[in-house]
Amino acid sequence: MTRPAPDPAARAADLREQIRLHDRRYYVENAPIISDADYDRLMKELEALEAAHPELATPDSPTQRVGGQPLKEFPAVRHELPMLSIANTYSVEELREFAARVARLLPGESVEYMVEPKVDGLAVSLLYENGLLTRGATRGDGETGEDVTHNIRTIRAIPLRLEANPPPARLEARGEVYMPFEAFRACNAAREEAGEGQFANPRNAAAGSLKLLDPRITARRGLRFFAYAVGVCEGLAFATQFDTLAAFERMGLPVNPNRMLCRSMDEVIALTREWDTLRRRQDYPWDGMVVKVNALDQQRRLGATAKAPRGMTAFKFPPDEAVTRLLRVDVQVGKTGVLTPVARFEPVLLAGSTVSNATLHNFEEIARKDIRVGDEVVIEKAGEIIPQVVSVKVRHGSEPIRPPSACPSCGSPAERDAGGVYWRCGYPLCPAQARQRVLYFGARAAMDIEGLGPALVDQLVDRGLVRDPADLFTLTVDQLEALERMGRKSAENLCAAIAAAKSRDLNRLITALGIRQVGVRAAEVLARRFGDMDALAAATVEELLQVEDIGEITARGIRAFFDRPESRRVIEKLRAAGVNMKCLVPRSASGGPLEGQTVVVTGALRRYTRQQIEERIVALGGKPASSVSRKTSLVVAGADAGSKLAKARELGVRVVDEEEFERLIGG
Ligand code: IVH
Repeated sequence: MTRPAPDPAARAADLREQIRLHDRRYYVENAPIISDADYDRLMKELEALEAAHPELATPDSPTQRVGGQPLKEFPAVRHELPMLSIANTYSVEELREFAARVARLLPGESVEYMVEPKVDGLAVSLLYENGLLTRGATRGDGETGEDVTHNIRTIRAIPLRLEANPPPARLEARGEVYMPFEAFRACNAAREEAGEGQFANPRNAAAGSLKLLDPRITARRGLRFFAYAVGVCEGLAFATQFDTLAAFERMGLPVNPNRMLCRSMDEVIALTREWDTLRRRQDYPWDGMVVKVNALDQQRRLGATAKAPRGMTAFKFPPDEAVTRLLRVDVQVGKTGVLTPVARFEPVLLAGSTVSNATLHNFEEIARKDIRVGDEVVIEKAGEIIPQVVSVKVRHGSEPIRPPSACPSCGSPAERDAGGVYWRCGYPLCPAQARQRVLYFGARAAMDIEGLGPALVDQLVDRGLVRDPADLFTLTVDQLEALERMGRKSAENLCAAIAAAKSRDLNRLITALGIRQVGVRAAEVLARRFGDMDALAAATVEELLQVEDIGEITARGIRAFFDRPESRRVIEKLRAAGVNMKCLVPRSASGGPLEGQTVVVTGALRRYTRQQIEERIVALGGKPASSVSRKTSLVVAGADAGSKLAKARELGVRVVDEEEFERLIGG
């Protein structure tokens, strides 16, 4: 007996429904019920069906999130109802004044407050017509925003169709698009490898990502969304803010689970302390709480000032900041000669740790903030980001800080970079550059030479024993023993560690060369693609551009590196010393037991270093990743695994320990 072939239209509708349900479980209810792999299977089946029967593809199909060509520009959108802002409050006293004002304007009425996190992203307006998402726009100046529908559609937390039967004729949901810290870190790491500038904070990253002309890039940025207010609305009415959020949730729009109905301002004030702790445990930037009069009728009667409704206020948590005195600005020479200013200040407690340095990024930034030595400066730490000098609090210094005219190490004239922002020491034999390059060469992620620390490298460079990384391989036990704080035993150990580095795999050697824009990941891809150093050194820019994840700037950086005679010289010296120049893992690991799988490693492992296990994963055809998502196939968890393990459990991703991992790969 043969089963009748399923009707493709019915199957497509069924798949769409299932995917919508799982998106909702994941993004709205925070309680997924299938694994990433199963989800991907549904998606693949639907894609295949729609490819075979193009007439079945509907605009609200989950396959249609990224579509069309990049835009040339964003059309302007005039908001039917202006998108106002909210007045800020910074203290408990101001909150009480706000409540007193509300009470005065609503004499004799009882007032309840809805309290919601103020997530730090950017406000958007989503228009649903007959349940379908037809337009997404930024707030802009509140009157006119930009039409970013093509990018909004790529955000999987945003439903393309509301779950409501019948749907409202028109509903404008307003809310915040934001970038979780984890996505922010990944985004900046990728930009660093690509040689692109860093986003200063998740809000800038979210805004930058939403205003890209190419939706394929936006789709990769991990943006999320919380709905918090209604704009235009026909065919539906809400009595309170509480009901609005509940209705959003029913319709499949994500709302922040941390929300609270308070019966008095005292309850709101009690929350300020509780939430200042709670917010630090969330993976998204949350910098205040929005306090709203719950009854929408009361909100309407309270009206608005020119800028903001009278029925709400944004209580801002005090930022993690401190004031300290700037003692001096040092100039650090990087391995490629970039001269970076570093602020040294009187040690001060900031967000639980003592800090005394912060990068000042570049000299243009110092000039812009007009920071001078001796000034009392405000330093700030946002999320897990390194401390920043925000501004001058009290001016004590006299002289503006100028870019150095010469390299602090070798005295060569400082040169301005093509972009005009960076200053650079252009002398290739500069000892400070040599020191950085040698240190980097031996770093754990590069050639992993144990015992090759900064103090030792200083001595080696100062005594003229090492001018470039290849010189390390000429060092003898006797030479090393003659250095300060070096016994015979440690000299022997170091010599052995250096010798062991000769057989490291090609990807580590490529990383160790310190080519601009080429980090661990890019080195890995290049090693596998080219197989040996000579093939890489001979590659043209066009050939390099064929490699996944290698962009124009990186490709040119690689070519420029191999065109420099000094680079060629160092590589020949390394070869003569017997350093391995070939890729040892199989070049194409297809057919490996981990083929096509994304594997995240977390916690402390006993048998492997992090890099070793990642190399193993690549050798077996898998792809190591740093964060757990529904796309993760497997998590290898060691001791003390924390949030990634929890996330994997939450998402139903398969988790194994080291022993199981080895069984799995048959090792
Ligand atoms: S309600 C009349 N609720 O804060 C304005 N805004 O400072 C209605 N924001 O532009 C906005 N979380 O970008 C509201 N739970 C929340 C919010 C929130 C963040 C942002 C929003 C707004 C800005 C105002």
